[in-house]
Amino acid sequence: MQIRKLGKSGLLVPAVGMGTWRTFDIRGKAAIANARLVVDSAIAAGATFFDSSPMYGEAERVLSQTLRGRRDAVQIATKVWADTASRGRAQAKLSLLYFEGRIELYQIHNLLLWEEHLEMIEQLKGKGKVLAIGATHYNSLSFLELRRVMESGRIDAVQIPYNIEQREVEKDILPLAEELDLGVIIMRPFGGGSQLKRRPPSEAELAPLATFGVTTWAQALLKWILSDPRCHTAIPATSSSAHVLENSAAGEPPWFGEEERKYVLRLAGKV
Ligand SMILES: NC(=O)c1ccc[n+]([C@@H]2O[C@H](COP(=O)([O-])OP(=O)(O)OC[C@H]3O[C@@H](n4cnc5c(N)ncnc54)[C@H](OP(=O)(O)O)[C@@H]3O)[C@@H](O)[C@H]2O)c1
Repeated sequence: MQIRKLGKSGLLVPAVGMGTWRTFDIRGKAAIANARLVVDSAIAAGATFFDSSPMYGEAERVLSQTLRGRRDAVQIATKVWADTASRGRAQAKLSLLYFEGRIELYQIHNLLLWEEHLEMIEQLKGKGKVLAIGATHYNSLSFLELRRVMESGRIDAVQIPYNIEQREVEKDILPLAEELDLGVIIMRPFGGGSQLKRRPPSEAELAPLATFGVTTWAQALLKWILSDPRCHTAIPATSSSAHVLENSAAGEPPWFGEEERKYVLRLAGKV
């Protein structure tokens, strides 16, 4: 697994990490035991960067439970998602409790009340409880505002959607992130999974990508993203240990060139 520096933040993260939306919003012994297996596989494969949020129901709590005794083996990217400053402070307190007193990347979820929360996160960074600050948004209608936050000089990283069907970030956000040396985390690398539900390209169609270590459609989609050098880490969510291993393998060089990226788009019927 390739390790990459997340922009100017100094944080070292694997090229493939993991999201926890839905997949870790779970209850019950069997589901939590499965989440632990998923985390075991992620750590074994080097996919140690975990993204969560108080917006994801039980996810932060379940993630923290599966990390007991091995917190130092991972990097936590969680978020504040609150409509008042005091609710934001309460969330931060709980997240810090879950993740043993530190959060590697603390992000403002969907830019909600970002000016207020940014002050609180900057204070936590000053105390060494937060190592880097980020902002996220899933919707291109909010990218103008996201640009304002990026240009404020107060954040280290952005989390944005980027996949073969959602390429709006190529226009402004990725160039600006590169100019400002911001870390870039890619959410929804499979479009929420929809891109893997349709009939995938055949083995013969994927064969030309084998020299890049790609043997499955999920790996082709992830490598398509990670071959853009402006993207530092992608965080696919999964509830399957086998999928963790499959996805992690796409975080290794060699990276696709322009030809291979176009080929993947052609396979997906996008050009
Ligand atoms: N505003 C925000 O800040 C924001 C918004 C959206 C998402 N996010 C973050 O980004 C993360 C990823 O986005 P996402 O969860 O929406 O979608 P995603 O990662 O694009 O897709 C997840 C789906 O892909 C499936 N999958 C994963 N690996 C697979 C494989 N190798 N083969 C077949 N299916 C596979 C999973 O099903 P299985 O369980 O069966 O593997 C799951 O249903 C989230 O979990 C969250 O942490 C942040």
